[in-house]
Amino acid sequence: MNQNPMSEPTFADNVSESSRHVSAPGNSAGPGLATTAAQPLRTPSADPSEGSPALPAEHPAQRPVAEGGVADASLLNELRGVRGSTPSVWFMRQAGRSLPEYRALREGTTMLDSCVLPEMAAEITVQPVRRHKVDAGIFFSDIVVPARQAGLGVEIRPGVGPVFDHPVRTEADIDALPVLGDDYEAALDPIREAVRLTVAELGTTPLIGFAGAPFTVASYMVEGGPSRDHLRTRALMRSRPDLWARLAAWVAELSGRFLRAQVLSGASAVQLFDSWVGALSRDQYLGHVREHSAAALAHVTDLPVPRIHFGVGAAHLLAPMHSAGGTVMGVDHRLRLDEALTMLPEGTPLQGNIDPAVLFTSEEARFAEARSVLEFGKSASGHVVNLGHGVAPDTDPQVLTDLVAFLHAQDHRGA
Ligand code: CP3
Repeated sequence: MNQNPMSEPTFADNVSESSRHVSAPGNSAGPGLATTAAQPLRTPSADPSEGSPALPAEHPAQRPVAEGGVADASLLNELRGVRGSTPSVWFMRQAGRSLPEYRALREGTTMLDSCVLPEMAAEITVQPVRRHKVDAGIFFSDIVVPARQAGLGVEIRPGVGPVFDHPVRTEADIDALPVLGDDYEAALDPIREAVRLTVAELGTTPLIGFAGAPFTVASYMVEGGPSRDHLRTRALMRSRPDLWARLAAWVAELSGRFLRAQVLSGASAVQLFDSWVGALSRDQYLGHVREHSAAALAHVTDLPVPRIHFGVGAAHLLAPMHSAGGTVMGVDHRLRLDEALTMLPEGTPLQGNIDPAVLFTSEEARFAEARSVLEFGKSASGHVVNLGHGVAPDTDPQVLTDLVAFLHAQDHRGA
């Protein structure tokens, strides 16, 4: 396993931690233990400033901002349901092609290679924080990086997305998936190193770790690449639910261990991205997907970090997704935040949901949209502002910088 200074705490530490911080009974599953019963989970309730034995002593969430840590950073407070006086904001895909400094640094390096070069991944993660003054970094990586570290052939084609050498469609394909053991943990070392370098650079700004949810990642694996309607994946789910379940469980383990590695190395919150889940009906989600997303999240439920769960076009899945074990729901721009709240347990913090299309309109329209998102989010316990989906590559970065400054000048008191 990993030999780094922020290595896995002992089992005894995990046990005492899970009894202190995880309030949902029966959900203290550590790595490798999949929860099948998806319980709604609450945000860890213990005082974050007192430190946690589940996290390494040098983890930034072990110290308050005044001491150079992030334990009481405003964005983390919002994610725990504690409002600040002004809004906290970050943007999905804030790192990347919209930034000239990213394009310059990445030149000559493939996307997936850049993710396993720790200095490069750390620098790319910090770039948008430096430029836009957003309240969190999102770790620079991709939802298919874990698959590549596990040994699968996958590349990201510019303008297309992830493409797998061998689509996974048959029983033999699933039998051939690599075992996720010590070799995989060792292959995550560049990720751990990148996270450590990133948090050292970010100082009092928290780092959000992330992973792809089983449906979205498995859909790239089954289709072989991006797909409009995920037909082959949905057909597999219906015709061979046994095979689908094996594949989804494998991805849950893959993504779950990736999440855990990021948190133990210094990330202070996580987001599970289920970008394509909106293609599913509620029954398909509940019957074939939720338990696997729950299993991925279960890899970090014993750690005292907020867990954001985000899907695109998933208004009909908001409550089922919440019941998979996130503590915060990310909402896309298709659903108003006040409507989202009516579908969720009282007190659920929200993240979202400025329409990325307004980034291509006038400043007046952008600020009006930002004001209305704040207004509709007012009755949430905590609200972290974000876009409804990622920053498009041709977004003018100055527009994002100005939007952050505007948001930071707004009043964020609740309703
Ligand atoms: O700033 C951030 O948000 C951090 C990094 C991040 C990337 N991908 C970097 C990236 C994150 C969180 C992701 C997640 C991801 N990757 C998702 C879920 C989020 C979402 O947008 O729904 C998905 C579906 C993917 C798969 C993927 N990777 C796609 C569809 C693409 C775009 C392909 C293209 O060229 O249009 C990628 C590539 C990718 N991931 C880029 C970046 C910065 C662009 C690569 C480049 O610079 O050429």
